Amino acid sequence: MKTMTDPRTMQQEADALRRAGRRLAVVPTMGALHEGHLALIREARLRADVVIVTIFVNPIQFGEGEDYARYPRDPAGDASKVQAAGADLLFVPVAAEMFGSDFQTHVSVGKIGLPLEGASRPAHFRGVATVVAKLFHITRPHVAVFGQKDAQQVAVIGRMIQDLDFDIELVVVPTVREADGLAMSSRNAYLTEVQRSEARVLHASLRSAAERIRSGDRSAPAIVGAMREMITSRSSGLIDYVSIADSATLHELVSLVSGQRVLISLAVKFGTTRLIDNIHVTV
Ligand code: PAJ
Repeated sequence: MKTMTDPRTMQQEADALRRAGRRLAVVPTMGALHEGHLALIREARLRADVVIVTIFVNPIQFGEGEDYARYPRDPAGDASKVQAAGADLLFVPVAAEMFGSDFQTHVSVGKIGLPLEGASRPAHFRGVATVVAKLFHITRPHVAVFGQKDAQQVAVIGRMIQDLDFDIELVVVPTVREADGLAMSSRNAYLTEVQRSEARVLHASLRSAAERIRSGDRSAPAIVGAMREMITSRSSGLIDYVSIADSATLHELVSLVSGQRVLISLAVKFGTTRLIDNIHVTV
């Protein structure tokens, strides 16, 4: 596996590989890699000749007071995991090379970025879309692999690929979970033992919502209310949002309609650690 830090060198390498007729996949990450990230790399391996993993803790997608400075970093551990998962190229730029002091151009995300995560983290998707656009231009992939864990991020990137004519196939990998259902996340490392055990309730509440829909409940506010009750009664978590929205538009729903595909999602804070999770359900 080759490691690169310079964007121009990475771009030239990607260009050369494309000219040689190779199919390229990229897996963008912020490092502190876990099995969820590795599932993305393995999926990329199945879909391309050359797998490029990027690790970059992107400063411009973190808001004021968020965890940019303390975001977990493990460069050596990450490199060996990326190699073991079968990647060919690891791109690890430094912030000054990605966003120099005169950086002035951003990708502005429209209404798909406004609800849910966008409501709580106003500049987040602008930062994500901008860095992902740069990573696409630098790594020149045919395929880009993202995780369902960040459902709205997938919607935002899908929109950007269409709107800005990126010639890239977007592949989405299901959320990888711990044995008790907690979605794997680099941020789980922040949890205390008690918080970690309480955090099980997040996936449990998503499953019970899916179960209510299966047994005929069509009232989104009633289902959301039951989820909130379950989370607050079984944990110390502070709810940021619990939502049932249309999967495509992310518009919040009231009455569910048979055949409709919905995104049930939540964000809950355990102390200073903010966790998100979601599932898709067809009503
Ligand atoms: P990061 O949080 O490191 O996640 C990188 C990729 O791994 C994302 O596509 C995310 O959805 C996926 N992922 C994380 N946990 C997962 C899990 N438990 N199961 C499956 N996939 C999982 O998302 C980002 O970084 C950044 O916003 C990025 C796209 C790299 C732009 O900076």
